[in-house]
Amino acid sequence: MTAVDHVGGTAEQVARALEAARGRTLAVTDLDEPELLAQHSPLMSPFVWDLAHIGQQEDLWLLRGGDGRRQGLVPATVERLYDAFEHPRAVRPSLPLLPPREARAYLGEVRHRVLDALDGARDLFPHAMVLQHEEQHVETMLATHQLRRGLPVLAGTALPAGRPVDRGPVLVPAGPFVLGVDARDEPWSLDNERGAHVVDLPAFRIGRVPVTNGEWRAFVEDGGYAEPRWWSARGWEHRCSAGLERPGSWDEGGARRRFGVVEEVPDDEPVQHVTFFEAEAYAAWAGARLPTEQEWEKACAWDPALGRRRRWPWGDAPWDPTRANLGQTALRPAPVGAYPAGASAYGVEQMVGDVWEWTSSGFEPWPGFAPMLYADYSAPFFGGDYRVLRGGSWATAPASVRPSFRNWDHPVRRQVFTGVRLAWDA
Ligand SMILES: [Fe+2]
Repeated sequence: MTAVDHVGGTAEQVARALEAARGRTLAVTDLDEPELLAQHSPLMSPFVWDLAHIGQQEDLWLLRGGDGRRQGLVPATVERLYDAFEHPRAVRPSLPLLPPREARAYLGEVRHRVLDALDGARDLFPHAMVLQHEEQHVETMLATHQLRRGLPVLAGTALPAGRPVDRGPVLVPAGPFVLGVDARDEPWSLDNERGAHVVDLPAFRIGRVPVTNGEWRAFVEDGGYAEPRWWSARGWEHRCSAGLERPGSWDEGGARRRFGVVEEVPDDEPVQHVTFFEAEAYAAWAGARLPTEQEWEKACAWDPALGRRRRWPWGDAPWDPTRANLGQTALRPAPVGAYPAGASAYGVEQMVGDVWEWTSSGFEPWPGFAPMLYADYSAPFFGGDYRVLRGGSWATAPASVRPSFRNWDHPVRRQVFTGVRLAWDA
């Protein structure tokens, strides 16, 4: 295959990445027909919607260059069923969706045509964008699996053991750093991560590792969920109306339900399934605050000795399973201390993978923002009621996260694999 002249990789690498993502899509949808058609939670789509939507987006961006007026591989009336803006998740099960067999055939046919045309593609950014879209939906479908009732159908892969970690926070000295990235350095970065620009931050401290289940249990046992003074006014209102008493998936008896298995909550794993409001309350109780996303990115990517960014917290070497818990297969965060080889220049660990980390920042464009091919990916959400999440989770694929990657969600969401890292003024 033809090599392309950017660090994003060759057509062959793109083809391999697309096939690996498809393998995971098919693995998480390897279910009986009723399971695929059912809505396992009003927060989520039926699996069969995600499945055909992955094909519809690939058809639109890679076979038609994003021109929705051109005829795709399914009739326009069918295609419209998979428009995420037109049909909110709650109504998706009532739509006349493609049945599972037809959805899979659609996906296969689109992919066949994409791979046929790949050699002639000059710009591989649309492929990288579509790859990340599919991987994001695998993560979404894993969240659906977590909410699904019934016997377990997924088995997680092994993770490295934890190690004792100094829980004292890490100091990040004051000074300028480069926030965001340019296409030249990160060709697979999405529009909201660009462009690179200098930001000067005061000194701050940040947690060496994410907050653990054991630490969160102390907050619960100390009455943290019953004490309004730790909560913002909106947070307390939500805590009361939603009846929050402990993280999502935990039960009253101190166990948790994880992909259909009821098990003891391990003390040394990063806590997951907490809302922004809970994260904020925990931080107040702990005498801390949440980091801003600028602080988070500096602690993750800046190399103060070299005065430049690293592509990953550990340096420029590509991800491997000794560096971070990414890859969409573990079904759990790794215990704290599991990744000494993944530490950032400042010595902060597990910033990438394990759990998405809530920041205190709303979702706003960086200076000079320019929308990408999929123009409605970020822009409609700027300034909305969202908080930015950083770092990806165990359910994120390595091609779909970078130190500059910005996720955003409503402050009440917790079906996502969300956790917390604390910060302090220095
Ligand atoms: Fe989507």
